[in-house]
Amino acid sequence: MLREPALPATVGDESGKILHFLRGERDRGCGGAEPEGYEDAVAYAIGRYERGLSHYVAALERIGFAEKGEALDVGSGAGHWCFAFLKRGRRAVGIDRSPAFVELAARIAREIGLADRVSFRTERAEEAQLPAGAFDCAWSHSVLMYTDQEAVLRNVADALAKGGGFYCGYTGEGSRLHTLQVSLAGETELLSSRLNTFLDSHLHRCGVFKPGNLTRMLRLEDLLRACAVFGMEYVGRPQVQDGRPEYLGLPATFDFVVRKLRDRDKAKSQLLRGEAIEKTWLEDLDRIARSGCPGLVCDVCRAVDPDPAEEEERRQVYARALILAGRADSEERWRIFEDAACPLPDHIMGLYWHARGDHAAALGAYRNMPREHPDRAFLQGACLLQMKRFGWARRVFSEAIERGCGAPREWIGLVAAHHFGDKRDAAAAAFRGFVESRRKAGVPEAVIEMELARLDAGRASQ
Ligand SMILES: C[S@@+](CC[C@H](N)C(=O)[O-])C[C@H]1O[C@@H](n2cnc3c(N)ncnc32)[C@H](O)[C@@H]1O
Repeated sequence: MLREPALPATVGDESGKILHFLRGERDRGCGGAEPEGYEDAVAYAIGRYERGLSHYVAALERIGFAEKGEALDVGSGAGHWCFAFLKRGRRAVGIDRSPAFVELAARIAREIGLADRVSFRTERAEEAQLPAGAFDCAWSHSVLMYTDQEAVLRNVADALAKGGGFYCGYTGEGSRLHTLQVSLAGETELLSSRLNTFLDSHLHRCGVFKPGNLTRMLRLEDLLRACAVFGMEYVGRPQVQDGRPEYLGLPATFDFVVRKLRDRDKAKSQLLRGEAIEKTWLEDLDRIARSGCPGLVCDVCRAVDPDPAEEEERRQVYARALILAGRADSEERWRIFEDAACPLPDHIMGLYWHARGDHAAALGAYRNMPREHPDRAFLQGACLLQMKRFGWARRVFSEAIERGCGAPREWIGLVAAHHFGDKRDAAAAAFRGFVESRRKAGVPEAVIEMELARLDAGRASQ
């Protein structure tokens, strides 16, 4: 939810008219080309327009986009950000991968007489065909964490005019944890899929790419680095995102604005010339890969050195980037990962086997990692969960927590080990343990008590 002070609602808006239209669509149950998707889209849209278009007009003012001419909305959903922009802006283009949302947004545009100044297109942001340098501003609210952000940020940077701004509202770890808290009281299936999403996002942060899982939980610093790689520099944090900003002291949703100041490929050209950007060339490459742009790192490594396997450190950076980019299965596999003459460290081999779905081999490699490595317990536990060795996974996570290495991910690993082992009460108790553990992070007692009470109330109402 937007925090106080509330943004000034400076203009009258068409929200009432739109809501009337949307409720009609809902009540008629009439569908769109994809009836089920359309119904969901209508339900989502009602929530946005109940908040009111003037809310989004004020948000755009605070972001600094209200006076711009041409705008791009990446993941435009029900079109509300576009319509708010058109209060003063000239033209907007919304792209969304969901045909139902695109159809609904286009219908709303016709309903309020804006169809000649806005177009909605069904496109995945990763592959969107956008005119280069055509937009004065772009935004992507509550979308980027579901995408291949490397491809999306590259596309956005390309579509922006020099000096153009990009606003991003992002859902982080706190929000996923809050959702887990809510799900603990609800359907088992929903909880299972949310636990998997949470654990997979953390696996990705450790360096494992799992095909089919795109949901990410990157940190602000990672996202800003990824933007900078494509020439977009930090401007500020307007804090106008929907959603709570914090859950138990962890960032839940956050936002930021960057501006395109450099050519989209300048950083890449620099790296291709062997020049460093922030630290050393190799450290930069490694950090860029971990910040969500492993594809670029693979391309640079390959172009700079036709045989990146030659030098040990470079080979390790390249290997990690290949895994994160989902390219570990390429024909390079034999040279990089499976050449007995140039072995890679256990850690990287573990990530490699893990990404390939060979959990037993990955587990063996992880167990050989240095004991003090911060990811060791989590990687082992995550592997064991995938092998359905729930008792063993529980022991690994519990021991890590007892040793004082219990970050949220180890606690949630423990919750998952109980949940997937059909021990629902133990899962709830482990979640309680996680909430209580946040005391050590300095979360005020009153907040801990409030969340514990909510957790108990949720379960009691089951
Ligand atoms: C949570 S909704 C947010 C909608 C709107 N931006 C808002 O703030 O209310 C996420 C939207 O992103 C769209 N989306 C998800 N992945 C996408 C992708 N790869 N390309 C384009 N749209 C995407 C979904 O279809 C959905 O409409």
